[in-house]
Amino acid sequence: MSEDFGVRDGEVAAALPAKSDAEIYFIGRIRTPWTDRKDCPKNARESDAICTIELDERWAPGLKDVGGCTHLVVLYWMDRAPRTLVLQKPSHYGVQRGTFALRSPARPNPIAMSVVKLLRMDGAKLSVTGLDCLDGTPLLDLKPYFASTDSVPDAVVGWHAESRKGPKKAP
Ligand SMILES: C[S@@+](CC[C@H](N)C(=O)[O-])C[C@H]1O[C@@H](n2cnc3c(N)ncnc32)[C@H](O)[C@@H]1O
Repeated sequence: MSEDFGVRDGEVAAALPAKSDAEIYFIGRIRTPWTDRKDCPKNARESDAICTIELDERWAPGLKDVGGCTHLVVLYWMDRAPRTLVLQKPSHYGVQRGTFALRSPARPNPIAMSVVKLLRMDGAKLSVTGLDCLDGTPLLDLKPYFASTDSVPDAVVGWHAESRKGPKKAP
């Protein structure tokens, strides 16, 4: 865990289980312009920077037919995040919330996801926009994004919708 991911005031950590339940394979790395958390976009739509997904050659045959996809779901491993936090206070909101109500990288299994736009494929290297991770972040999986089943335009995150309305006025 890097130094800038400490437990803040108002945050609560849980003990990790004694052993893990499954193993995963990192299938590549993500190359981005960001090496410092303070420069990294907070979400996938905050930057148009072109990033490169470098899939390990071993898995390259699995890219068959990917070139016809305009968008992909990318799953990645937030390798520099703590795994114990159950209650968090993101600095840009300043309010304590449950880990599973947040898109924070700090979670028991630090899996992140973004829907990216596929610009180009060069062998096992994919140029994309729509990522928000530090350079060198491990890649877990790639899947086609199906607008027909993955898009839920009327979905709401209650606390976020409330926070955009601004503070409640006194009656
Ligand atoms: C809020 S998360 C969102 C990730 C993903 N789009 C999601 O919704 O699951 C993005 C933030 O994670 C942090 N981050 C990026 N790469 C990381 C890494 N490899 N390890 C730990 N934290 C990382 C940065 O602070 C970045 O702004």
